[in-house]
Amino acid sequence: MRIVNVQLPERAYPIFIGKGTRRQLANLVHELGAGTRVAVIADQQVADLHLERAIEGLETSPTVMPFPAGESSKSLSQVERLYGELANARIARLDLIVTLGGGVAGDLGGFVAATWMRGVRFVQMPTTLLAAIDASIGGKTGVNHSAGKNLIGAFHQPMAVLVDLDFLETLQQRDYLAGLAESIKHAVVRDQALLEWHERHADEIVAREPEVLQELIARNCAIKAEVVARDEREENLRMILNHGHTIGHALEHLLSYELRHGECVGLGMIVENELARLRDMLADETAERVAELIERLGLPTRLPRALAAEEVAAACRLDKKLRRGAVHFILLKALGVPERVADISDDEIAAALRVVQPL
Ligand SMILES: NC(=O)c1ccc[n+]([C@@H]2O[C@H](COP(=O)([O-])OP(=O)(O)OC[C@H]3O[C@@H](n4cnc5c(N)ncnc54)[C@H](O)[C@@H]3O)[C@@H](O)[C@H]2O)c1
Ligand SMILES: [Zn+2]
Repeated sequence: MRIVNVQLPERAYPIFIGKGTRRQLANLVHELGAGTRVAVIADQQVADLHLERAIEGLETSPTVMPFPAGESSKSLSQVERLYGELANARIARLDLIVTLGGGVAGDLGGFVAATWMRGVRFVQMPTTLLAAIDASIGGKTGVNHSAGKNLIGAFHQPMAVLVDLDFLETLQQRDYLAGLAESIKHAVVRDQALLEWHERHADEIVAREPEVLQELIARNCAIKAEVVARDEREENLRMILNHGHTIGHALEHLLSYELRHGECVGLGMIVENELARLRDMLADETAERVAELIERLGLPTRLPRALAAEEVAAACRLDKKLRRGAVHFILLKALGVPERVADISDDEIAAALRVVQPL
């Protein structure tokens, strides 16, 4: 088992990574004291597979609150329904909420925990790779609104994150590979040695070799934890984690029924590196090297169908419509050297998009 600490200015919390880390939950509840009630907000699909093991060893049985799998559960109506269940179970300030599932469970359950009685303690049990290395760390929680994704939210840090590799085993290969895009992103913006490590272990990573997987998750958690610790509220440094995401979100908006978030981020990194290359900001070899790794890790390097450049440029702006100012890109100058760029033109987007258009 590996432990990575998230060292926030006010307090710290641990991320446990390994097979069987779910058993830490009983210890945590025990430490909170007798009489602590536990509510588990769980993705229904994940609960069917793993709930029994997730709560094994708890002294008193928790109240389980399943929600339907999928992004559409990140809604205020789901939040409202869960508040009702918390009221019925008499969950109060000093009790504990556990979230079980992927990023949707963490964002929805975390938001409920952040707002119920002005904030209840919570523990994340992420069960997708994306949630384990990204969404469950950093305290961003929230739900969607018809005006856009993640518009309603709160910062609320968990007490602990338990990444149990036993749960990740049932994750579909395509979802697993999609999660790897965030790992490549962490490596290129922050840790060149991690990029080299991905290249050396690419086959074992794709094969989900347990020791390599544990190492991959621990190294990613350390990067995300370090960035979040320095900039909890995303005023500055944390923005580097948006590399690949300005284009990625635009593609996701246009292709959400065809591609996963991580697949869009992989394509987004390729396009954004091309933007940087065309400006002579980034060396050709580096752009090629990242694209090659994306391909070796089984992620798409071309769009499933051609997209009009104007549509993509418009979708980039859509994301920023509600946030003041220009569209920002986090482009690479070199490995480990991201830079914020705000003056990308539609013509540049059109030129860069060509590298991912279908052949
Ligand atoms: N808060 C943050 O900082 C942050 C960061 C990145 C992404 N997110 C959010 O995360 C969400 C995406 O997360 P996701 O990709 O984990 O999606 P998800 O939670 O919808 O999970 C994807 C699918 O996998 C299934 N699943 C989950 N774990 C499984 C397992 N172990 N075995 C089998 N099936 C399993 C789920 O039922 C679901 O159908 C988005 O809503 C995004 O906005 C949040
Ligand atoms: Zn992402």
